[in-house]
Amino acid sequence: MSWPCWVDRRRLMSLLDEGTISISGGTGVVGDFEADFAAMTGSRYALAMNSGTATLHSAYFAVGVAPGDEVIVPSYTWHATATPVIHCGATPVFADIHPASMTIDPDDIERRITDRTKALCVVHVWGNVCDMDRICEIAKRHDLALIEDASHAHGAMWKGKPVGSLGHIGCFSLQGSKSVSGGEAGVAVTDDPELLDKMILLGHFGRPRVGVVDAVNEIGDMSLGAKYRVHPWAIAMAHVGLKRLPELNEKRTANCEFLNDQLRDCPGLEIMDALPGATRGGYLEYKFRLTAQVLELVSRERVVEAMVAEGAPVTADRYSDLNFTYGLLHAAPLFTSVDRSEFGGVFYDSARTDQPAQPSLPVAEALNQRLISLPGFIDVERDSLAQITVAMRKVLERVEELAE
Ligand SMILES: Cc1ncc(COP(=O)(O)O)c(C=O)c1O
Repeated sequence: MSWPCWVDRRRLMSLLDEGTISISGGTGVVGDFEADFAAMTGSRYALAMNSGTATLHSAYFAVGVAPGDEVIVPSYTWHATATPVIHCGATPVFADIHPASMTIDPDDIERRITDRTKALCVVHVWGNVCDMDRICEIAKRHDLALIEDASHAHGAMWKGKPVGSLGHIGCFSLQGSKSVSGGEAGVAVTDDPELLDKMILLGHFGRPRVGVVDAVNEIGDMSLGAKYRVHPWAIAMAHVGLKRLPELNEKRTANCEFLNDQLRDCPGLEIMDALPGATRGGYLEYKFRLTAQVLELVSRERVVEAMVAEGAPVTADRYSDLNFTYGLLHAAPLFTSVDRSEFGGVFYDSARTDQPAQPSLPVAEALNQRLISLPGFIDVERDSLAQITVAMRKVLERVEELAE
């Protein structure tokens, strides 16, 4: 089922008929959505924006990320987790991932903390929740701001607590492919009125603030001009998805568990289990790992081709597919070879003259080329899912025949 099925056409038409095409004060459909999203995450405040990227920029800005600072992020994620760090003139420092969940590795976070580290941003990638006990403890011990990029994980939980509410700010994309979607939109959540006010200061001209930050109050209703206000039609669409989220997460979880159970003993394939304490949500896509032994015989692309020929809608994992964009972020030209000081604006760390050496991240490097994906199925017949697993198993049981 694709997102247009979720559109409440009458609600959208009524906004059009009444001429509601822009809301600056966080009222109406925007305020209604924010109240429900804050409640869903157990947060005090939610601030809707026009993209998930905008929420991440706002979060880094609000916690005070500035030139000279470093922010630790996972290398295995969509690039928008890291690029807003450079909007603040700071440096993203990439950390390795946990082999089972593909989420950031707390031990590697600790290794990468320096006296320049200002914040951590962890990503609940593909709906898999990070080890938030360890991560919250590390952030507290080192006095670091903790941001959660929960763009894949709407409704996921760590030990019963919703993601987004475990750090200082939670950021959610509501872009077209996400499980709560306004086409193009995003939402940030926080319990901290000061952080809320600073996010409003950056991108929300005309929006009343809580009023706890003196410097913010002094500039009146002006903002710093990033203009991150959301379109009311987008948020009206996202509200429909939010109301359906528990039902969608239930269906996705049941489908994921069915696929995992069917494929658990499949030769050549490893299942991605959630960490103990994590309840998955959002998902976006289902991921599986080919074993290293399979890749000694045949390329991932050849396995994918054979599975597709057998009728399984499998793709090579797109974050590690060099033909898609760049592969892993710590090896991407934007963060390695490109001299960003040649760009306009503040897209380089002016306080740093050397290009920081990019680390080797052995787990991410070894695993990412082994990942394959299935769509995050919602309404699909059990028989169809079963047929997919039969097709995948058939290819892997006879993988020697594919050897080039
Ligand atoms: C992990 C992650 N973070 C951030 C974003 C950025 O969200 P948006 O496309 O809404 O700006 C995305 C988008 O796919 C994402 O997957």
